[in-house]
Amino acid sequence: MTETRDVEEIEVALLLEAIVRRYGFDFREYAPASLKRRLWRRAHAEGLETISALQSRVLHDPACMERLLLDLSINVTSMFRDPSFYTAFRAKVVPLLKTYPFSRIWIAGCSTGEEVYSLAIVLQEEGQRARLGVFSLDKMREYTQNYLHAEGRRAFSEYYVASYDGAAFDRRLVEHAVFAQHNLVSDRGFNEFHAIVCRNVMIYFDRSLQSRVFQLFHDSLIRFGVLGLGNKETLRYSGFENDYEELDGAEKLWKKVA
Ligand SMILES: C[S@@+](CC[C@H](N)C(=O)[O-])C[C@H]1O[C@@H](n2cnc3c(N)ncnc32)[C@H](O)[C@@H]1O
Repeated sequence: MTETRDVEEIEVALLLEAIVRRYGFDFREYAPASLKRRLWRRAHAEGLETISALQSRVLHDPACMERLLLDLSINVTSMFRDPSFYTAFRAKVVPLLKTYPFSRIWIAGCSTGEEVYSLAIVLQEEGQRARLGVFSLDKMREYTQNYLHAEGRRAFSEYYVASYDGAAFDRRLVEHAVFAQHNLVSDRGFNEFHAIVCRNVMIYFDRSLQSRVFQLFHDSLIRFGVLGLGNKETLRYSGFENDYEELDGAEKLWKKVA
């Protein structure tokens, strides 16, 4: 059993090495348990019995790499996900942001952008100024409930126009947003931010990558800037906890103080 597990570990390490050398995607520091599950899922879907066989296919068949990439990028998201986070952001972060003449917010790992629209709506309702976002119509019922639980101030339908293709959100909400590709594994910081929101992303990273990303965020935040994480993520035990003050422990909001 142990031997099988040892062999599997070697195979996984070799596959990840092959991926980074052949395609440049670096998953070597992702949390192993969920990574392994997804690798096996892809192997079985391809009709393969071992991770080594998957390695061989990935190396020789870029289309297989594409499929694996889809399995590895977990893009699940929704508008006003965990509504109480937005309630806390509205109550505790917006007043801080209002003390500056303008504010810059980095929403790292925002998937298909639902989180950006959600924060843009909160900022607009709080008198802060935040392209056309189209999201699927059948999600609007759930998103409306989330918005209400996040203590939205208006009728959610005021923000979008529904048509056959989906719900098109008001472009003005994000006219000041820049959507850019940024890889937390390999790219550097690119600005100074008043707040950084990175939710449900670091949960997929191992400790050493988490700690590098915390360093990146620390270097990219202004003093008294705010860091917001997902509900299963924490700054505690990260080595940075003494540089931050808890703004809202339950909602994972921290203020940088050092
Ligand atoms: C589960 S989604 C979370 C989306 C959103 N933040 C939310 O909470 O609804 C995870 C996101 O992390 C992103 N991600 C994974 N690895 C990344 C990396 N190395 N650099 C930047 N983003 C990454 C994925 O692309 C995906 O958008």
